[in-house]
Amino acid sequence: MTATWCLKTLLTFLFGSVISQSNINVQNLYTLLFTTNNYNKLIRPSRNQSVPLSVHVIFTLYGISGVDEIEQKLTATGWLEIEWTDELLSWTPESYGGLRYIYYPQGEVWKPDISLQNGFSKLEELGSKFISVFIDSNGLVNWRPFQVFESKCDIDSTYFPFDIQTCHLDFVAWSLSSKDVHITQGRKGIELSDDLQRHGEWKILFSTALNLAESHKTKVRFTIVIQRKPLYAIMNYIMPILLLSILDIFTFKIPVDTGERIGYVITVWLAYAVFLTIISDSLPNSSESIPIVSIYIMIQIFIGTVIVIISAIESGCAHLSDDESVYFLLRAIAAKNCRKPSVQSEQEISKCLDRDETCVTWKEAISALDKYLFWLFLTIFVLSTLVSLLIASLKYI
Ligand SMILES: *[C@@H]1O[C@H](CO)[C@@H](O)[C@H](O)[C@H]1NC(C)=O
Repeated sequence: MTATWCLKTLLTFLFGSVISQSNINVQNLYTLLFTTNNYNKLIRPSRNQSVPLSVHVIFTLYGISGVDEIEQKLTATGWLEIEWTDELLSWTPESYGGLRYIYYPQGEVWKPDISLQNGFSKLEELGSKFISVFIDSNGLVNWRPFQVFESKCDIDSTYFPFDIQTCHLDFVAWSLSSKDVHITQGRKGIELSDDLQRHGEWKILFSTALNLAESHKTKVRFTIVIQRKPLYAIMNYIMPILLLSILDIFTFKIPVDTGERIGYVITVWLAYAVFLTIISDSLPNSSESIPIVSIYIMIQIFIGTVIVIISAIESGCAHLSDDESVYFLLRAIAAKNCRKPSVQSEQEISKCLDRDETCVTWKEAISALDKYLFWLFLTIFVLSTLVSLLIASLKYI
């Protein structure tokens, strides 16, 4: 008896009034709030219905789940922290054993019908049935629905993979006008979660929150600015194309008479085609903003096609017999190739050309031409790459 009393006194001393709360206190409070007071969740909880209710919204971003360039969609995971004062849900803690707060299922109290205005899928109630709201004795209600938000986002991928995208998440009370509720950002606006989940392709640069007022609605706009991590695209799209283009230029280093050449050049061209099929799904493609990378790839494939055609013509010519006439142009180019040890001076070359006999064979002419074509295509490749790089980096200058 004395021992129990001593223990009770000690615990009361240690934990103050907390210890004196009992389930009966909580039950009494629930009865008062929801039965005695006849709480109706359909009624906006303001004693004066002509004063709009202030609702504060804070968004905590947990991570970016994905960005879809084709559908122009951002998928972000996070939770909203929505706070308002429910004047009909307040009590005196002292009358209930110092009970300062309770939790109640979100479906049983009045809530503003806040939803994502620029959502991608159908309009839905935030949160879910099992989520409870926190209510303190002053009637402050704190509701934290966790959600995967899919929002419409204009994605401009011209500068892919060095692009920066700005996406908005607009939250609005769908049916309530600004006469009923005033939605504003909370003190912190938008926050990045402490354990923000990193995305493989996107990095969050910064985020802002903004209060917006439309004609008869108020809304909060959370803006997320994300930057693509270019390494992935460089490794997977740009490097293979660069390497294939270099391989393609080396076609001109393969002797035309070996017969390997057409096989080689067609293989490289097929590699382009297969590669394009693989990446065409992953490249951001919309007719509004064609990425510079796509144009660059098209140019490289076009050059590749030209190289295939030239190789085909050259292979055909290589099998002509040498007494068939060599085009004048070819002969002129090949003339320089005549500088063999046996042919010493310019005069001898011109003599050689003047005589009505072929001084160069087809093979010699073609191999001379190949030298020029090698350098020509190398120059085109380097120039097109540099120009593309320059245009892509213009945004940062
Ligand atoms: C309700 O609020 C309005 C606007 O502030 C005020 O004019 C009116 O007197 C208030 N009504 C009551 C019953 O307090």
